[in-house]
Amino acid sequence: MQEIKFYSGENIPLELHKVRVVQKLNLVPIERRLEALYEAGFNTFKLTTKDVFLDMLTDSGTNAMSDNQMAAMMQADDAYAGSQSFFRLEKAVQDVLGKKYLLPVHQGRAAENIISVAYVRKGSLVPMNYHFTTAMAHITDKGGQIAELLYDEAYVINSDHPFKGNMNIEKLEEVINYHGPKNIPFIRMEASTNLIGGQPFSVQNLRDVRAIADKYGIRLILDGSLLGENAFLVLQREEEFKDSDMKTVIHTMTSLADLCYFSARKLSSSRGGGICTDSLEIFRELEAFIPLYEGFLTYGGMSIREVEAMAVGLYETLDETMISQSPSFIKYLVDALDAKGIPVIKPAGVLGAHVDAMQVCAHIPQSQYPAGSLAAALFLISGVRGMERGSISNQRDEYGNETYADMELLRLAVPRRVFTLSQIKYVEDRLNWLYDNRELIGGLKFVYEPPVLRFFMGGLKPIDDWPQKMMAKFKEDFSDSL
Ligand code: F0G
Repeated sequence: MQEIKFYSGENIPLELHKVRVVQKLNLVPIERRLEALYEAGFNTFKLTTKDVFLDMLTDSGTNAMSDNQMAAMMQADDAYAGSQSFFRLEKAVQDVLGKKYLLPVHQGRAAENIISVAYVRKGSLVPMNYHFTTAMAHITDKGGQIAELLYDEAYVINSDHPFKGNMNIEKLEEVINYHGPKNIPFIRMEASTNLIGGQPFSVQNLRDVRAIADKYGIRLILDGSLLGENAFLVLQREEEFKDSDMKTVIHTMTSLADLCYFSARKLSSSRGGGICTDSLEIFRELEAFIPLYEGFLTYGGMSIREVEAMAVGLYETLDETMISQSPSFIKYLVDALDAKGIPVIKPAGVLGAHVDAMQVCAHIPQSQYPAGSLAAALFLISGVRGMERGSISNQRDEYGNETYADMELLRLAVPRRVFTLSQIKYVEDRLNWLYDNRELIGGLKFVYEPPVLRFFMGGLKPIDDWPQKMMAKFKEDFSDSL
């Protein structure tokens, strides 16, 4: 993609879109933000948007839609079966993802449920580059286990490794030999590995995984929820593809997988999801579960309007000016935080900037959830809602013991084409203040802990009155500023 240089020499990511529909935001006073935190059990998932200024919880279903997506929604063909909207989507999947058969589902985790129901049994082991919360929950729910096989470099916060999402090929073969190929229903590769900071894998690594899968006769499944951004980073970082284009890279990646599933809430800036494959056998193995869990085969639990938006959104992922927007803003934020010495995952990845709470809150033990504490503290002092991606997001082991996360991250999502640069600068500014006052951040403890996916609904409380002390310091430094 052609870079646009500023005369001043400044490195500024320039928006190649204009704003045509806007939504007003509120920045409520810090006293209200403190109350809101208590009401939400110090869990940013439970805040309501009327108290949130910049919503950096996720990019899921929050990427800005294009005019063409909105227009397509108006021509939706509402029919229970055989809707023309579905055939437009199927064509988009064939053109963009290069797969012949499509099974529509209502969102990414619905695909994970169906794949797990079909293939995972008690005693199954699923090797993967890294888990995603919902993928793991569905696999363990069906009696299976997972093995995470990244290279050590993936866990290094301050790194310049271009492909931290690569699967460790030697370990993969070891795990297959140890557990036996017949106990391994599939290998899962997650594009732009979410929980280690949105880090991509290389096409070459996927080829190496494919070779092992072929050697042992195991299916290879690609989680393509963040495939567009992974492909964009391949264009930027993998020598072989430096003169290539999005379509070629995406096709090269999907052609290496037997099955690709995705959350359309991310991939195509819409809602919904899908499972696609070239294999009629796989299609037949999964087909019956769509009407059982989702809806008829031509809508899969989605509104037909979303089906149309998804079709257009899929084509738009091939547009580098669109797909580069979020990674370039993330890089801007990561570079700015890094310049101030704030520990962030490097290199900048996709989805969001990831602040290392293990270092920022080095004084908070993992048993008191440093990443959850940092997320709560940032909301308190800024109205910015991030997401805890640390031990609160982990699930307890089969004996009910707490399992501590490899990384304690505060994720600040930058959904596509949603924020302006001054908003990003506000986030940077408030994080700088928080970093300078980090000793004021205290720990959290659970008061309500649900048994499954506890991070969504769980309720916590601060271990002492640190939020009140932090508010007092904020008011001292900012006087009457919001
Ligand atoms: N796979 C990956 C890599 C994801 O990031 C997600 C969702 C899913 C699967 C599940 O898709 O939400 O449509 O059911 N990630 C969101 C996030 C929730 O905030 O990172 P879903």
